[in-house]
Amino acid sequence: MQRAAVVYFSQTGTTAHAANEIHRIVGGPLIEIHRQPAYPEDYAQLVTVAQQEREAQVLPTLMPLTASLDDVDTVFLGFPSWWAQPPLVIDQFLRTTDLRGKTIVPFLTSVSSTIAESQATLQRLVQHAGARLAPGVTANTPEVLQAFMAQYEG
Ligand SMILES: Cc1cc2nc3c(=O)[nH]c(=O)nc-3n(C[C@H](O)[C@H](O)[C@H](O)COP(=O)(O)O)c2cc1C
Repeated sequence: MQRAAVVYFSQTGTTAHAANEIHRIVGGPLIEIHRQPAYPEDYAQLVTVAQQEREAQVLPTLMPLTASLDDVDTVFLGFPSWWAQPPLVIDQFLRTTDLRGKTIVPFLTSVSSTIAESQATLQRLVQHAGARLAPGVTANTPEVLQAFMAQYEG
């Protein structure tokens, strides 16, 4: 495979776990996206802040990425499903990072929502970034993630 990176946002650690699994297989930079300031840790406050942000469509400020994506061809991009959509952190990452010519492979964790529900949003943002959207995965079980990653192994 061409050079890969794993980039993810994770509020409570579930997506981070999937990101680590993918990184174990593909290597390359492992980059966590951080909102600046961080979302509240308290669940009710988090929901309030995230909901206000979404309703007002205010794109959050992000911390600078901790590694360069310049030499990377394939970006595995992970996030939790929030209201069946990528969090606005992901919108902001896709709008503000130079991803031209790269392939984006999305992976999502959730209670029940699927990557298919985020597809239209991802397609729009990835296309706008001049990148290509590859099929993604709803990475809610190790078995599903492992089966999906088989195509990238070796
Ligand atoms: C603000 C918010 C909205 C959420 N909306 C959904 C949803 O629409 N569908 C779903 O299946 N799970 C939803 N969840 C649950 C998360 O997607 C799920 O717990 C995810 O695995 C968390 O990943 P993380 O630990 O990497 O942050 C939501 C969680 C939060 C905090």
